Amino acid sequence: MVVRIGVLLVMLVAQVSADQAIIDAKARFHPLLAGSGMVVSQERLASEVGAAILAEGGNAIDAAVATGFALAVTLPRAGNIGGGGFMLVYLAEQRRTVAIDYREMAPRSARPDMFLDAQGNVDTQRARFGIDATAIPGTVAGLLHALERYGSMSREQVMAPAIALAANGIRVSADLSESLQARAQRLLADPASAGYFYRADGSAPAIGSQLYQPDLAATLQRISDRGRDEFYAGKTADLMVATIASHGGQLDHRDLASYRVVERQPVCGSYRGNTVCAMPPPSSGGVHLIQMLNILENWDLRSLGHNSAAYLHRLIESMRRAYADRSRYLGDPDFYQVPVLALTDKGYAARSAEQIPLDKAGDSAAVAPGLELQESFETTHYSTWDRSGNVVSNTYTLNFSYGNGKSVAGAGFLLNNEMDDFSAKRGAANGFGLLGEEANKIEPYKRPLSSMTPALVFAADGQPLLATGSPGGSTIITVVLQTLLNYLEFGMNIAEATAAPRIHHQWWPDKVFWEQGISADSRAILTAMGHQFELAPRVLGATMSVSRQQQWLQGAADYRRSEAAAAGAY
Ligand code: DON
Repeated sequence: MVVRIGVLLVMLVAQVSADQAIIDAKARFHPLLAGSGMVVSQERLASEVGAAILAEGGNAIDAAVATGFALAVTLPRAGNIGGGGFMLVYLAEQRRTVAIDYREMAPRSARPDMFLDAQGNVDTQRARFGIDATAIPGTVAGLLHALERYGSMSREQVMAPAIALAANGIRVSADLSESLQARAQRLLADPASAGYFYRADGSAPAIGSQLYQPDLAATLQRISDRGRDEFYAGKTADLMVATIASHGGQLDHRDLASYRVVERQPVCGSYRGNTVCAMPPPSSGGVHLIQMLNILENWDLRSLGHNSAAYLHRLIESMRRAYADRSRYLGDPDFYQVPVLALTDKGYAARSAEQIPLDKAGDSAAVAPGLELQESFETTHYSTWDRSGNVVSNTYTLNFSYGNGKSVAGAGFLLNNEMDDFSAKRGAANGFGLLGEEANKIEPYKRPLSSMTPALVFAADGQPLLATGSPGGSTIITVVLQTLLNYLEFGMNIAEATAAPRIHHQWWPDKVFWEQGISADSRAILTAMGHQFELAPRVLGATMSVSRQQQWLQGAADYRRSEAAAAGAY
């Protein structure tokens, strides 16, 4: 109990009052936020940029695009223009949700066996940190697509704050300084990254110092002036291709010019009368979120008790089944027919629930490589909500923290290593310990399978209730699942739902990863049933959520990231 109260006290919530347009989230501890809009992200300056756009009359999409470009400056390890992601947009007037897929695409030179060595084993160094780990970036196309279709402001308006942050410098937070320190070896190996992010002696910028990013400011300015074509066919494209070629990479101008954004139907399901919508393939997130909710709906979880052994057992077994299906059936739907309807079918879930033994752990039945949880996992999620009830739930990434560590010389931004999200070889685990087969093999212009799960929940009357999502690689789906269950099943507010300790299981390795706060009693009961527990070396995920309680919005930035903040617009 003491722990829970402590956690709630550090929960990052914001309150808006009449005399202040925007209030820093950490300043107050009122759980509810009244206001006409809200932005929650992993970095406070970026949240404030989004809230300022709302305060100026922009809609949730304008705020999301502004926040996305701002994070590319203030959170370089995951915010990006050199990566890709997914944006769910709820359009209040049309009562419709669109899923914008701006995931990276493999270049046309990509081949199924491109990361195999002479012995036929996956060369993980090349797949994760080599230049060919970089897939064609989608972020600029995706954010500008969202703005042009659904925003109300000009490109210049929404990009101006990011340009100013890059040009005028940002104060280096402990979070930024420490993460650069942690990744120094990889980033210093690249002269462009060394120049952009480190001091001349190779040390990370000190906490409280200023980080100026003039090349990035110039790149953002060119994109602001000329739009998407600047990135995919202009000077920025030239710089990108030159950098990639200098490392011996294949990705070229034709690849960049071939990039396309795809609007997809979100995958939606129901949970006890609420509608849940999330990202469809090429993310596995939506399909398995719905699949697990469908399985779990077969039991009265609330009466079992939150994080009781009986509840956790059902959670673990649902996860085990979903991740087994993920490895077989999920991939880019433009290349592989993903059985979305079958996997999200209530009947299939009911049969799965029936097969789950309630007295002993299930059996994952083979041996596989372990999760490599020591890798720093960095993706980032943010949510925006405006006064008209438009909502955006966005997750984007470079894949690993700082991508493959290589920056585009002269352009000031990092390249992704998203190619590692493909299955480089049947049965070989990727950087998140995930397995894959034919559905997710490498092919030219294919999108690597993702776990990113931007999600929206709607009440029975169709009105939006909650926007959430998380970083965390393979753990994203289970983190979002537990946040939704905490909120929908256990009646927690979004701050409590965020704070509650989490677990993760992904079929292989056959282990339950857990956060501090999962009780020793529950673990002892589950261990006796055959479950194997391993303390997660890092926290599991970091959700950035907004929820609505009647006319009040509550923003909850996850305390698992020190610079995360909710910012409200009055
Ligand atoms: O798309 C995916 O599933 C991964 N590239 C996400 C990577 C990630 O979440 C890393 N960090 N938290």
